[in-house]
This record gives sequence, C-alpha cells and structure tokens, in this order.
Amino acid sequence: MIKIAILGYGTIGSGVVEVLHTNRESIAKRAGDEIEVKYILDLRDFPGDPMEDKVIHDYNVIAEDPEIQVVVEAMGGVEPAYTFVKRALLAGKNVTTSNKALVAKHGAELIAIAKQQSINFLFEASVGGGIPIIRPLNSSLTADEIEEITGILNGTTNYMLSKMTFEGLEFEDVLKDAQSRGYAEADPTADIEGYDACRKIAILTSLVCGQQVDFEDIYTEGITKITADDIKYAKAMGSVIKLLATSRKTEEGYCAMVAPFMLSQQHPLYSVNDVFNAIFVHGNVLGDAMFYGSGAGKLPTASAVVADIVDIAKHLHKNILISWSSGKIDLVDYKKAQSRFFVRTSENQEQVKAVFGEVQFVEVPEITGELGFLTEVMTEEAYEEKAAALKNIKQRIRVV
Ligand code: HSE
Repeated sequence: MIKIAILGYGTIGSGVVEVLHTNRESIAKRAGDEIEVKYILDLRDFPGDPMEDKVIHDYNVIAEDPEIQVVVEAMGGVEPAYTFVKRALLAGKNVTTSNKALVAKHGAELIAIAKQQSINFLFEASVGGGIPIIRPLNSSLTADEIEEITGILNGTTNYMLSKMTFEGLEFEDVLKDAQSRGYAEADPTADIEGYDACRKIAILTSLVCGQQVDFEDIYTEGITKITADDIKYAKAMGSVIKLLATSRKTEEGYCAMVAPFMLSQQHPLYSVNDVFNAIFVHGNVLGDAMFYGSGAGKLPTASAVVADIVDIAKHLHKNILISWSSGKIDLVDYKKAQSRFFVRTSENQEQVKAVFGEVQFVEVPEITGELGFLTEVMTEEAYEEKAAALKNIKQRIRVV
C-alpha cells in the first residue's frame, strides 16, 4: 500500500481523489500497489464529504509521518506550496504537483533535491492539463534538438477566444462563463494577461534547453485588448486569433514570447478550440509533432497528477533524471523576433503606405472610419519604429 497526502482539496485535489476512486483497480495494477489517501490538508472542513475524516489542518502531521511516501501538491501559488514541497522532499517524500507557478519559479531546485534524495519530483499536470508533454519531452524526444515549441497553453483564454469567434461576443461577456466552468485560475488575471501561459512556456523551454528560463524574461501580452471587431477582421482574412506561447531556438539563443496571434487555416493550431490545449513541437530529426487534448479542468488535470503518482510508485527510491539545472539562460531579446503584423488605424491609405510601404489592406464592410492592413515580415523593432511614425494605431496583432 502506498500512502499519499494531498495538499489542497479544491478543484484538482478533489479531482485526484475522484480519479483514484474511479479507476482504483487499473491504477493499482499499473502502479504495482494500492494507492491510499491518508491525509488531505486544507484550511477548511468538509462536513458530509466521504473524505471528511482524512482532512487535517496541520502540515507537520504529513511532514512527520514516515508512512507518507507521496505528497500531492494541489494548492496553487508559490507559497506556502514551495515551503511544504521542499520540506516533503527533504524528508524523503516524493512529490507531484500541478502548480506551474511553483515549478516555473523553483523547479530546478526541487528537481535537484529529489535527485539528491533518490526520489522524484514530477509535474506533468503543470503544463497542458491532461496532455502528456513533460514526460514526452523528458523521455520520448530525447534524441532531438527541439527547435520550436508553440502552444495554446491556456484553456480559459482559448475557450474565451473560441466563443468570441463563434458567437461574435465581446471579451467581458465570455470571461464569467469561463470562470463558472472552473477553467480559470482563482484570479483570472493570470489567464487573461498571459501570465499562466508564460509560466508554462518557461517550464517547457527550461526542459528543452536543460537550464533555468526565468518567466520574468519572457515578453508577455494577454488577450484583454482583443475585441469583437478584431475577430471580424480575422474572419475576413480566413484566420482566427489565438493566444500562443512560443519558444524557438535561433542561432543567437532561445527566443520566447506569449501574445495573441492571427493564425491562417494552414497553421497546425488553427482548429484547436474551446478549452482544448495543443502543443506543436519541432525537433531537428523528428520533424513536427503535435500534442492535443484537455488543457484545464478538474479530471483532465487530476488524470496527469495520478499518472505521476503511478510513475512515482514504479520508481520508488529511484530518481528519474530530469535535465533542468539552475544555471540561468539569457533569452534573445524579443525585439529581434520577426513576423507580419495586422494593424488597425484611423490614418488613411496614403499615410499607411508612406510609413509601411506595400501593405495588404483588409476590409470589413461593417467597420468604418478606420483601416485594417497587413505588413510585410519585419522585426518587432522595425515594427515599433514604423508604428511610432504612423500614430493613431488602434490595434496590432502578430500574424503567423
Ligand atoms: N487556468 C488554467 C487554464 C488552468 O485555463 O489553462 C490549467 O493550468
């Protein structure tokens, strides 16, 4: 019997209990042993809940119980999760977490402690919800130099942008709906401002390059300025708007960014809608691969957490090597990145051409008093210079 403790009985913590219950037999077979929840740590009580008796409020009980072999961290946020997880690892307890904020900030250190202790710190659920991406990067794609990872890594914003696209709704109208479905973070700012996706691409880039990528270094733009009119322009071009988190290996180094992009029908992420996430990976020998699935929500995320518990059970006292050292890598300045830009302005065609040269104008008959146009491919730096000369720019969205 492998005894576990769950920290946090919210959406993910209760999902883990549900998954362990629903698939009890098959999980035991795969893990080679029964998994039993001994404690659930939460500030609240849960009268009437079948797990009521397991709920405790003092973390010391878990840290000091030698029977606990696995700690499942499902609290979210950096503290006190970091303190609890570090203490568990130092006490020789394996840890799995769904917490991207924790992994992005302290992943390298926690991985090193687990290695030192010959145990495991696993975090499959921290990126892409139920989609396997951490394990593939760490075990299946190890023959490759990964040259690009581009993902739709936030279910909430993808759900919102999909609803804006299909139903013509404005941003404010769709946010509450996403929250009520349990996709959003406790504070949805992390979703809509791109911070959640930023931490996730920082984790993926760290795994790809084997060094610490600080999420603070990644240029991040959310979707709060995307309007129903922008979506109309995208439709006129046969495109969709998606929040992409992208990281590329260039000759100068790794370049990462989170921002809304316009995607044409040919783009592999064009059809990824609703709460689904997808991650496009390009390896130098593999070529292209895509990982697609449920990127947020209780059971998909819990599925990935429980899979980590199974992996831990299969590797008790044996560390699964994860290449992610604490040596920090400097990213290439995002201003060197290149793309086309879609721009909306109240200037006239002559003024636009005088600054941007040959552009492609985009018409949406019902939108008047402004112009939409597509630039040639240029660097962010070059775009900013030209945009400063044009003035009166209402919107600009990168195009891939
Ligand atoms: N709020 C996150 C999302 C949850 O919408 O993707 C999963 O990390």
